[in-house]
Amino acid sequence: MIQVSGDGNTVCASGPEDPTPMLRLPAEPTHLAGREKEAEAVLALLAPSSRARATPVVSVLSGLPGIGKTALALHVAHQAVARGWFPGGALFLHLRGHDPAGPVGAEEAVGTLARALCVDDAVTPDEQTGLCQAALNRLADEGRAVLLIADDASSAAQIERLVPARSAHRLLVTSRHLLTGPSFQARLFGLDELAPRGAADLIAEALRHARPDDPRLRETDAIAELAGHCGHHPLALQIAASLLTTDPGRPIVELVAELADAHTRLDVLRYEDGGHTTAVQAAFHLSYQRLLPHHRQLFRLFALNPGPDTSTDAAAALWGQPRARTRNGLAALAQAGLLAEQPVGSGRWRMHDLLRVYAAGLVESDSAKWRSTAFARLLNHCQKLVQAANAHLHTYDDGPLPDDFRDRAHAVQWLEDERANVMALIAGTRFRSSTSTR
Ligand SMILES: Nc1ncnc2c1ncn2[C@@H]1O[C@H](COP(=O)(O)OP(=O)(O)O)[C@@H](O)[C@H]1O
Ligand SMILES: [Mg+2]
Repeated sequence: MIQVSGDGNTVCASGPEDPTPMLRLPAEPTHLAGREKEAEAVLALLAPSSRARATPVVSVLSGLPGIGKTALALHVAHQAVARGWFPGGALFLHLRGHDPAGPVGAEEAVGTLARALCVDDAVTPDEQTGLCQAALNRLADEGRAVLLIADDASSAAQIERLVPARSAHRLLVTSRHLLTGPSFQARLFGLDELAPRGAADLIAEALRHARPDDPRLRETDAIAELAGHCGHHPLALQIAASLLTTDPGRPIVELVAELADAHTRLDVLRYEDGGHTTAVQAAFHLSYQRLLPHHRQLFRLFALNPGPDTSTDAAAALWGQPRARTRNGLAALAQAGLLAEQPVGSGRWRMHDLLRVYAAGLVESDSAKWRSTAFARLLNHCQKLVQAANAHLHTYDDGPLPDDFRDRAHAVQWLEDERANVMALIAGTRFRSSTSTR
């Protein structure tokens, strides 16, 4: 039995009658730069050899946004799965601790786990948790260890119900905070910015990946200087690297000078975080300035979707442009490192939290009318599809059905994929109408 969960990232295939392990992990970065020690330390806690000892079941990777928590978690998860350490499979749960629409609640998180484990529906959250633990216990008895990844948790309460009771399993959490709770003990890993060498490696690898013979790879001093101007912060580094790969003729020193200049102008905004904010904002700013004006517009509009990700169709509705043009625009933003299609080819786009905050700041300067018209287009698009899906679900005769969906299964799939977005839109609309009446 296969069942796709609401976040579109979990596939249920692990009922007792089904020997296929549940497995759906987002892709890991093509090259993880400079985290060798951290990766080794986390892997040591996931290894089967660690399970006989009193090793904590939970590991928490914490650090600033954009520092590379999710990237490291995905890297080690893929490694562990490839080494056959989790025959029961791996499950990635988006907890969206800092989503504008609010974090995923503890009960909702358990619901996703329950769907992935194919456990029956329960009446109360406690029962649901109990059923999940029973399913996990059964998997442990069968020698099928499971790796759970709870990404971007903002509170211990969000993950307490997910902590497996049996030491065969592992829960890997990423969070901005050093999360621990009375009901679980966790091994904490704090992630800082990359060491200078790792930061330069991130840029060099991105260049090499795009063009193995890029002559700028020899400019090692300029690369190191560029990495320094990015505060050795992975998200800023990645965006700076995209600025180079999308413009192969651009000398690195030129970008260094531009970043230095942007720093000076942004210094007025300097926060008490060792200059990270400035470094990151400067990289965002340059990247944004490089976009074509209509792509800038699409980038800003992205912040208006309160949900966790945006389909190509939803982006087209927001922008009020045809689908093919929107797809090109989204691809251009992805090329600039401002957006990612996850998984590639899925037509679903995610923007890093920090970039979303940046885009939200920019869109505030657009006219309120323009914003509300775009939001209304998104809302209409969503409403139309919800109604169409509903018609497919509740019509049992052979009459004509809306052609937005091929069939009932397609409609169910859409509802599952869009569940979090629909909920966030409803909450967003309520918020908008309550503020607009003031
Ligand atoms: N060590 C690294 N090497 C290469 N890319 C990285 C590294 N760390 C992070 N990245 C990239 O930087 C961006 C931000 O990292 P992410 O893991 O999303 O940050 P966080 O989860 O801490 O907010 C992502 O696109 C990620 O792939
Ligand atoms: Mg993350």
